[in-house]
This record gives sequence, C-alpha cells and structure tokens, in this order.
Amino acid sequence: MWNKNTLCDLVSEKMSGYHFVVVSNREPYIHVHEKGEVRCQVPASGLTTALDPVMRACGGTWIAHGSGGADREMVDEKNRIAVPPKEPKYTLRRVWLSKEEEAGYYYGFSNEALWPLCHISYTRPEFKEDDWNTYYRVNRLFANTVLEEVGDKKAFVFVQDYHLALVPGFLREAGNIITAQFWHIPWPNPEAFRICPWQTEILDGLLGNHLLGFHIRYHCNNFLDTIDRAIEARVDRERYEVQRRGLKTAVRPYPISVDFDELNQEAQQPSVEEEVQSLKKRLELGDVVVGLGLDRIDYTKGIPDRLKAFDRFLERWSEYRGKVVFIQAGVPSRVHIGVYKALNEEVDNLIEEINWKHSSDHWKPIIYLREKLRPLTLTALRRMANFCVVSSLHDGMNLVAKEYVANRFDEDGVLLLSPFTGASRELPDAIATNPYATDHFAAAIKEAVEMPLHERKRRMRRMRQMVRENNIYKWASDMISDLARFEFGEG
Ligand code: F6P
Repeated sequence: MWNKNTLCDLVSEKMSGYHFVVVSNREPYIHVHEKGEVRCQVPASGLTTALDPVMRACGGTWIAHGSGGADREMVDEKNRIAVPPKEPKYTLRRVWLSKEEEAGYYYGFSNEALWPLCHISYTRPEFKEDDWNTYYRVNRLFANTVLEEVGDKKAFVFVQDYHLALVPGFLREAGNIITAQFWHIPWPNPEAFRICPWQTEILDGLLGNHLLGFHIRYHCNNFLDTIDRAIEARVDRERYEVQRRGLKTAVRPYPISVDFDELNQEAQQPSVEEEVQSLKKRLELGDVVVGLGLDRIDYTKGIPDRLKAFDRFLERWSEYRGKVVFIQAGVPSRVHIGVYKALNEEVDNLIEEINWKHSSDHWKPIIYLREKLRPLTLTALRRMANFCVVSSLHDGMNLVAKEYVANRFDEDGVLLLSPFTGASRELPDAIATNPYATDHFAAAIKEAVEMPLHERKRRMRRMRQMVRENNIYKWASDMISDLARFEFGEG
C-alpha cells in the first residue's frame, strides 16, 4: 500500500540529484491581512489539497501565483518562502501578477474560456483575443520562472492544470528538464473542443510534455481524438502516445485522490467530536438526519439542482419535514465572473424560497454556511452528515466525495454521487444520482435517508477500501515512476 514513506523512498531512488518543481496557478498557502494581523490560509482547492502532502513528502519547489494580500511581506528577496509555515518541508516560490494579468489570464482565458469549454455543463465559453494574449504572456512568465529556478540542474517539472497549458511547450527546448502535466478537469470530445479559436496553440503547448495525465481513460481517449481531428500528429492508440514534430508525449490516466490515513486519523481526534457537538448546538440540529453539500460555489457542481431535488423530496415525502436538514457549506469562488455572481444569487434565492415554503417554527430545511470554514469544522461536518451529496454536472474527479469517505472511520454515512464525476468510476457503492433528473434525485435522497445501517456499512467499508488503496501517494508514485522512465534530452 502506498504511503508517505514509500513515496519518499521512491523519490530518493528515482529522483535524487534532480530538482523537483511543481508549477500551478493556485498556491498552497496564502497570506492575508485579517484583523490587523497576517494570517495563513489554505485555499479551497482540490489541486492544492492533493499536492501539498506529495510536496511535504518529496520536498522541492512549488511555483505559484502569489494571490494573497500579505504574500509579498512574507517572502525573501527571491520571492521564496518555506512551507508549511509551522513545519517547513518545501519551498514556495511566488509569481506576481498585475490585476490586469490576473483578469485576462485567470478570470478571462482560464475560467471564462477553458473552464466552460472542458466542462460540458451548458455554460458558453467566451473567447476574447485580449484574454488569450494575456494568457500567453503569463504562461511565458511562469515558464521563465521555472527556468530561473532550475538553472542548469536536471529537473523534473510537474505542471498543473488548464491555467498553464502553454508552459510545457516553452520548456521543451531545455535539455535538462523532463516535463509532466496533470489536467485536473475533464477533457471534452473533439466536437466540443474544436470551437476554441486557439486549439492548435493549446494542443502544441500540451504536446511539449513528456507525460500528460488525466483523471480517467475516457479523458485520455477524448484528448487523442482531439489531436487526431485538430492537428497533424501521429497518434498511437495502443501505446497511448502522440508524436508531433519529432517530439513524443505519453498520455495516461491517473485518478487523483486524498491522503486517506491523514483524513482517517484526523476525524478521530477528540477536538472533532467537540466540534460536532458545538455545531449541533449552534445550528440547533437536535436529532435530525443531516445531509451535506460541500463545494466551491461553481456552476459545474450542480448546487441548484441538488437544492431543487431536496425541495422535491420534501414535497413528495412530507413525513420527513422537520426530520431532515440539509447543510450546504460553500466557499464563494471566482466572484468577479458574471456567471458566478448570478449563481450565488440563484443559490441564495432558491434557499430562501425552499426554506419559506417548508419551514415550521422549530425547523428550517436548509442551512447555508456561506463562509470559509476552518478545516476542523469541515471535518466535523463530514463526520456528522448522515449523507453527503456530490451532484456535479461534470467533474474531472471530485475530491469532496473521497474526503467524506476517508473521514468516516465509523463506516457509516451514505454518499450520493453524480455519474458525471471521475470519482463515480471508483466508487460504485455510492448512490448514483443524476443531477439533471430531479425526481430520480429526490428518490435517491429518500433512499439515503432510509438506508439500513448494515447496508450503509457494507457500502462505506468498500468505498473506504478503495480510497485507502488508491490514495494520493499512489497517484503521485504512479506519475513519478512513469516520469522517471524518460531520459534527459529525449525528444
Ligand atoms: O479542479 C480544477 C481547479 O481549477 C483546480 O485547479 C482547483 O482545485 C479548483 O478548481 C479551484 O479553483 P481555483 O484555483 O480557481 O480557486
């Protein structure tokens, strides 16, 4: 079974003498000003949640956008800071972006164009030339920062996600670098992708990688199909390799995961039980059945759809009024983008309407925790939720599902999981819940509420076994083992 130690051993066997560099947009630790002090925050991001334990085990340098208001005060003259702040294990190198750069590259091309393009959830992508130009410039800036950090050392560079699709192309010339990239979101079919006016540039950037990873094989196949349709390249479907202009890129699935042991142990701390009790009191829960949704407020997560399904559940099975409470905890995200603002409003309005429609003097069906919650509170919520709902319209993997399972050391709790998440392939013991089908979804909620203890345990045990075995260290080890097979200077 893979764990921190086996990953460390692998890294020292395969990577000793090489510099290990991770590059992402989002940084794992953000410094902000709060009540006259500098505080360190951990972002609500699947990417950073997954990679921080890997970096703690491997050491190295993580290059990311310094987005916090107090970030500049905390770095040295080379823009570096040792993290995690309380027990440093690796170096965070911050990259500074102007407001305009952040607007064009992050909000613009990454999140108004590529995000909706890759998630088929019926939000139209917006392709603006200015955003594209900024995206190109910022990707160049990240690539230059990598080159500066690496110097003439041999390095493995591990690029993350859709914000940095062009970076590998800029690095491929350097003979001392082996580059891999993990695409944390889905890759759509060629029909959907071909509307992107800069598809060739993006594909060329990605083919700068020696190794390109997606969560599931289906996304690898979509990628190969896209290459086949969009550009001239040799696609080897047996070996899952693409050759273009003499360069070869291997394309592989690596289902991302969580640090199972850590989450499992964390949930057993006495402080979690105390937090559960204090939440129950604060939220006046009594002994109701608790449902939980835990998301970034994003239109791909199917939040309105789950609220509507809960509404339908209360309409159809009115005997549950007063007996079930749904807690929606959500961190606002990408709020400068119009569709996200509209979604926040939609969620607020829906909750108000549903609460107005069903509530009594002593009971309110939905509790909305619309704030950044401490990790302890998040663990307590997962521990106390009788069922957890992950209803994404489309999702590369979805780590909320795996976190819920890993926290349930008591082997209780029911997971309702959208079949449009990568996680659903690994967790067939969840109740498959189509977010587009409100009546079916409402019935799934009923099934979760009524599921007998022995059945809950049977399913949870199997899901936990799956996440325990396929944990984040296995994900990293699989990618690192594949990466270490490449020779430096290889085309
Ligand atoms: O899953 C895709 C992703 O962009 C990840 O990179 C990240 O974990 C998450 O969404 C959060 O997004 P952001 O970094 O925009 O807050």
